[in-house]
Amino acid sequence: MHLSSITALLVFALPATLAADCNRADYFKPGAYNLYMPFRGNSINCQLAEGNNSDAVKALQTQLNLCNGGKLDVDGDFGGKTKAALKAAQKANGADDDGVYGPETRSRIKFGLYFNGNPSDKVCKRLSDW
Ligand SMILES: *[C@@H]1O[C@H](CO)[C@@H](O)[C@H](O)[C@H]1NC(C)=O
Repeated sequence: MHLSSITALLVFALPATLAADCNRADYFKPGAYNLYMPFRGNSINCQLAEGNNSDAVKALQTQLNLCNGGKLDVDGDFGGKTKAALKAAQKANGADDDGVYGPETRSRIKFGLYFNGNPSDKVCKRLSDW
């Protein structure tokens, strides 16, 4: 194998393994509004998968319930129900439905908020549209 092929393999293989687990929840401000999202440190660039248990999972569950048809207990436990809800959200939004929350899923699913804390005044959009 040529060195260039090995380099290409590394370049394409690394991103999937590099993203570290989200481990906290915080407010992210893509535009004028703050959205409750999974974080690692000061970054939203992180991933979540089945077996994780954290406030970051609570933020994901919150968003699945708010904007992506989820009916989950917001308990921070990424179990089978959270995985199934995430897969449904991925499928509905054209992302690979692997049940793992990462960069592609983050860019495709919807995030939202209740204006003035009012459940009937809910707005959901893709991150890039906020
Ligand atoms: C999150 O889940 C992944 C996949 O199961 C696992 O490899 C990782 O160790 C978990 N992280 C934490 C902090 O539990």
